[in-house]
Amino acid sequence: GPLRVLVLGASVRAESLNARLASLVRDLMTDSGADVDLATLREFGMPLYDGDMEEAEGLPPGALALHDRLDRSDAFVIASPEYNASVPGLLKNAIDWVSRIRPQPFKTKHALLVSASPSLVGGNRGLWALRVPLEHLGTRVYPDMFSLAAGHQAFTGDGRLADAGLQERLAETVSGFLSLVEADVRYVCLERR
Ligand code: FNR
Repeated sequence: GPLRVLVLGASVRAESLNARLASLVRDLMTDSGADVDLATLREFGMPLYDGDMEEAEGLPPGALALHDRLDRSDAFVIASPEYNASVPGLLKNAIDWVSRIRPQPFKTKHALLVSASPSLVGGNRGLWALRVPLEHLGTRVYPDMFSLAAGHQAFTGDGRLADAGLQERLAETVSGFLSLVEADVRYVCLERR
């Protein structure tokens, strides 16, 4: 069947630039035949990680729900803002909760990281920081990343990037990622036969 990809916007803001970038990645992937599950962290509310709470009550429903959505996907994309040149606390918190579930769903999965910011750095430093926990968990983080600068002025009315060169660059990153995942998933299927 088609590749199943979870595309996660890592902001809870209703007008999130990263949610818009996530939608654009969804559109590009759908055009390439992938089965995309689009979500944002808004759907997976969870308290700050607390080991006592975990011991007494187990995992919060938001973390279990995010785990299930990751578990059902062959690969995932995170569209994340950069907060103070690093990973937003809410995303790190979600990763920390989900990483407590065994087997944890980040292991061996391919991930593409993208970011958007109104600034000129485009959130790229946050993505480098995000590689650390994901690679620690065994995720195969795609070497190429995409960071959208001046994100508040970058989108057209129909959700594409106004700059044709940037739109092309994002499309190439997405198709390169999908080809890698496709080849790897097919290889794993052959191996298991
Ligand atoms: C920011 N923002 C920000 N932007 C950036 O490019 N580099 C940075 O280091 C930071 N730091 C930062 C810290 C905090 C606490 C906040 C709240 C914001 C701005 C950020 O990129 C902007 O708010 C984006 O619009 C957030 O992404 P969403 O919610 O639009 O997806």
